[in-house]
Amino acid sequence: MIVVTGATGNIGRRLVGRLLAEGASVRALTRDPERAGLPSGAETVRADLTDPAALGPALSGADALFLNLAAGGGDAGPAIVEAAVRAGVRRIVLNSSIAVTDGPEDDDNFVSRMHSVAERAVRASGLEWTFVRGGAYAANALLWAEEIRESGVVRDPLPDAVTSPVHEDDLAAVAAVALLDRTGAHNGQAYVVTGPEARTRAEQVADIGRVLGRPTRLEVAPAEQVAEERATPVLPKEALLELFSLFATTVGTTPPITDTVQRVTGRPARTFAQWAQDHAADFR
Ligand SMILES: NC(=O)c1ccc[n+]([C@@H]2O[C@H](COP(=O)([O-])OP(=O)(O)OC[C@H]3O[C@@H](n4cnc5c(N)ncnc54)[C@H](OP(=O)(O)O)[C@@H]3O)[C@@H](O)[C@H]2O)c1
Repeated sequence: MIVVTGATGNIGRRLVGRLLAEGASVRALTRDPERAGLPSGAETVRADLTDPAALGPALSGADALFLNLAAGGGDAGPAIVEAAVRAGVRRIVLNSSIAVTDGPEDDDNFVSRMHSVAERAVRASGLEWTFVRGGAYAANALLWAEEIRESGVVRDPLPDAVTSPVHEDDLAAVAAVALLDRTGAHNGQAYVVTGPEARTRAEQVADIGRVLGRPTRLEVAPAEQVAEERATPVLPKEALLELFSLFATTVGTTPPITDTVQRVTGRPARTFAQWAQDHAADFR
């Protein structure tokens, strides 16, 4: 049985669907099963992963674990790994980040620090592991949904920051292959998973407009102001400012583009325009 943390999230929901379609037995974790809307084929279990007492029951009987640090936060990561070892889990697929480089600079910012701490805990666990080091998510554009719905104008400090946005379903597809693997080929692999092409933030906003069939544009606004307006308890202002600083370093660069999705799943990675098409309803 495979336990999926963050099962209602961008990646988790896709992953649950993919694992069920492959005939796997799935336990989907959420803090609110009534609101989760998860498929009936999955065993949906209530668990707040910041509560140490929830971890044992959530993991009991599991062979494999998909660990997403969005579910419970970075601090919960090592505790969840320890609980997985105690519960007899054999394999962990960790949703990590391209920001992890395995060098001392991993301590330099919030994103790489959180994921590298979890990676170290997983490596030290003695379990089989695969890291899915995702590049910038296409789904980050959902933060613009309200502005696009209301005015078509996105206020953002970094029009020229450039990434290779990756579709959440491509991340889920790579994770599913690693979780279901019977060959050992994915054990001990740190996969950098990106989309297939470079897109600036201004280009992403324009891509969404093309899918909607109406004009959209990015208007430059100060980072401080945007971070203040977009801050949430999960992504506080300071973290957003760190993310903007990270994105600022990409201006004028060529972002990494990997063939991991094709190699691992046998299908090409989807473009940002395809992602926007899949999410058109979020922006209408
Ligand atoms: N954004 C990027 O560009 C990027 C790039 C690389 C890596 N990452 C990493 O990817 C992760 C985000 O993945 P995602 O987009 O799939 O996540 P997501 O859509 O934000 O979903 C996270 C899920 O976690 C659950 N959750 C939150 N707090 C919880 C708690 N205390 N206990 C149990 N469950 C909890 C929520 O489910 P319920 O409400 O149902 O409980 C939520 O659906 C982050 O760790 C981020 O650092 C992001």
